[in-house]
Amino acid sequence: MDKGEQKLNLKAVIFDLDGVITDTAEWHFLAWSELAKSIGIHINKEFNEELKGISRMESLERILDMGGIAHTFTEKEKVELAQRKNKYYVQLLTQMTPENIFPGIRKFLEELKKNHIKIGLASASKNAPSILDALQITEFFQVVADPEKVAKGKPAPDIFLSAAEKLSVNPRNCVGIEDSIAGLQSIRDAGMFSIGVGTLDIMKEAGANLVLESTAELTLERLNGMFNIHARDY
Ligand code: BG6
Ligand code: MG
Repeated sequence: MDKGEQKLNLKAVIFDLDGVITDTAEWHFLAWSELAKSIGIHINKEFNEELKGISRMESLERILDMGGIAHTFTEKEKVELAQRKNKYYVQLLTQMTPENIFPGIRKFLEELKKNHIKIGLASASKNAPSILDALQITEFFQVVADPEKVAKGKPAPDIFLSAAEKLSVNPRNCVGIEDSIAGLQSIRDAGMFSIGVGTLDIMKEAGANLVLESTAELTLERLNGMFNIHARDY
């Protein structure tokens, strides 16, 4: 292996949280649906794909726009609506236990740690640290990027770049794992190899380098293989 190839070795895995580590993408959907219903808007799963990875306030703006009533609320009222949604969501989070972790994730985290691959989190959620705690996996993450400290949210690459920088790893040596269209764009623009977890068509169209239908398929061997084959192509 020459020097150039060596530089492309996998050194860090940067995870999204909601919909990758646990089923909170669904819980966000339930909470937004409840809030939207209370102001006369119906949101469906297809529309929800556009909300995944998007910050709380930006999600609210998109919902209000879709319902055609964005102009009827003041900024203060919008903040109150977002707080109400978060209240519904946090209420759902009280049920969270380590059992809620997606298949294979804990084993995969253990495997990464054992093999000295660094682990980071790049989630848009302000609730992320408490969810990692509830799942009892905080100890695995050397870095949890702070969504409030990056200039732009997903689909901009900022949060994945921030996690890589804090881990002191070149983005080209990182794999990013996402379930959202916005998040996959973020990984791509950060110059990382991307894994899309979810429906094949949606993930492929969103440009994932590798699509897995389940997190149970995540193993270091598989990642290393794909990473080395594709590292030069993206
Ligand atoms: C992302 C979710 O991870 O976090 C979005 O995909 C959510 O659906 C966003 O809106 C912000 O989350 P929170 O917990 O800060 O409202
Ligand atoms: Mg997600």
